[in-house]
Order: sequence, then C-alpha cells, then structure tokens
Amino acid sequence: MNTFICGKCGYAAFNEAPTVCPVCGAAKQAFKEDSAAIKKPIDPGNLNEMEKKHIPAIDIKRQCGLAGPGCVDAHIKIGSILHVMEAKHYIMYIDLYIDYNFIARYHLTAEKLNPVLGVHLKVPSGKLIALENCNIHGRWMAEVEI
Ligand SMILES: [Fe+2]
Repeated sequence: MNTFICGKCGYAAFNEAPTVCPVCGAAKQAFKEDSAAIKKPIDPGNLNEMEKKHIPAIDIKRQCGLAGPGCVDAHIKIGSILHVMEAKHYIMYIDLYIDYNFIARYHLTAEKLNPVLGVHLKVPSGKLIALENCNIHGRWMAEVEI
C-alpha cells in the first residue's frame, strides 16, 4: 500500500493522496509518496525496546454506553512501555483511521499530558489504525480489528 505524506502537517494518506489534506487543508501537490515514512516492527512477536516505546498499544473496550448503545471505546497508549513527554522528546500527535480512512487527529503537548487517548467509536466493526508521530523517532503504526 502506498503512503503519501503531507509536507505541511505530516498527515499520512494511504493508497492515494487526497485532493485536500483533511488535517491542514493543503492541496494534493503538498503530498509526497514515501513508503518508508512509517516504521514497522522488525519482528512483531518480539518487539525491541524502541518499538515497545513507540508502537501504539490499542485496547478495545465494549459497552461503555457513554454515547448510547453500540458505543465501542478504544484506549490507545504510546506504547506498551509509556513514551516520555518532555520538551525535547515527545509524541506530537496520534492519528486514527478506520479501514485506512482518516477519522481524527489528537494533538499532544509535552507538558501535562500522557501519550494516551480514549475515543468512543460509532462503528460495530472494521480495522482501527493508530499512527503516532514522535518528534525524534518518527511515525509508528498499529492496527486492530474492532
Ligand atoms: Fe521517541
């Protein structure tokens, strides 16, 4: 699958570049194809320390009811070993996709926030993808079936 990165805000699009960036509004011309933009684990069954700190850990929760019946929650943290959040080294944002279609960006600041996110989803099934961007170590992605 081809990956296209927005040169303005870092948003990653899959398959093809969008006409307009859904995060910052940049035009299609701002996107560049970059198949190496997202880091993947070398051995998914045996993550090294760097991977444990950066690959989103997704936990699907069901039946919370906050947004009515059928509300599916996802708890996402970066990563299975919590990443540091300091001015020099932090997680800038977490982008979420359902079946590779963008649904939200969650901006983080180094101060006062943990690199975690809880969201309520209105979908009964599909593939939830979380992509995070570390200011030093780049983009890392994880996906789970809802
Ligand atoms: Fe990092």
